Amino acid sequence: MVDWHTRGLLGELRGARVLDIGCGAGRNTRWFATQGATVHGVDLAADLLDRIRPGLPPSATVSAVDILRDPLPGDQYDVIYDSGCFHHIAPHRRLTYLERILPALAPAGHFAIITFAAGQVETPTDLEILTTGDTAGGMSFSLDDLRTTFAALTPVDLRPVRPNIPNTFGTPFLNAALFTTPTVANNTY
Ligand SMILES: C[S@@+](CC[C@H](N)C(=O)[O-])C[C@H]1O[C@@H](n2cnc3c(N)ncnc32)[C@H](O)[C@@H]1O
Repeated sequence: MVDWHTRGLLGELRGARVLDIGCGAGRNTRWFATQGATVHGVDLAADLLDRIRPGLPPSATVSAVDILRDPLPGDQYDVIYDSGCFHHIAPHRRLTYLERILPALAPAGHFAIITFAAGQVETPTDLEILTTGDTAGGMSFSLDDLRTTFAALTPVDLRPVRPNIPNTFGTPFLNAALFTTPTVANNTY
C-alpha cells in the first residue's frame, strides 16, 4: 500500500472510505487512518478486535464480521484492502467472497490484495483442501491466478511484494495485486 500510495495509484486517500478485510491486529487499518481515510476493519477474531479497539485513531473502527456472510459496515468503499485474508478462504467460497466485495467497490474504486505467492510457499492445493476440508495455513496464488480470479476488475499493478521498502512488512513469499473498477457505465459483476 505504501508503494502504491507513493506512486499515486490508490487515488486520494484523504476522506476515502476504506474497508480492511481480515484486518487482524489492525496495522493496515491504522495506516489508512493515518493517511486521512475513514477505515472499517473487519475480522472474525472478535476478541482481538476488542483488544485493539481502544487504541485506534478516531477515523478507524473495527467490527467482528465474517466477510462471507455478515452485512458489511458500509455500502460502498473507495478502497477495499485484503492483506492475507483471501488466501484463507476455502476454494468453494471464493465466488461468495467475490459476490460480497465487488458490489461494495465504489465507481473508480480500488481493490488491493496480498496473498501467499505460488511457488514460494508450500501450501495445499485446492483439491487437497476440498478433499480434507482443512484450509491449513492458507493457499497460494500466482499473479495469473489473481488476474483470473478478479477478472471482473481492471488490473493496475500485479507483482511480488517488495522486501526493501523501509518501515513496511515485505517478504518475497507474498504477491500483491491492485485493481480498479472498470470504466464502463452500469457496472454489472
Ligand atoms: C493473516 S491474517 C492478516 C491480518 C492483517 N490483514 C495483516 O495483514 O496484518 C488473516 C486474517 O483474516 C481473518 N479472516 C479469515 N477469514 C475471515 C472471514 N471469513 N471474515 C473475516 N475475517 C477473516 C483472520 O481472522 C485473520 O485475522
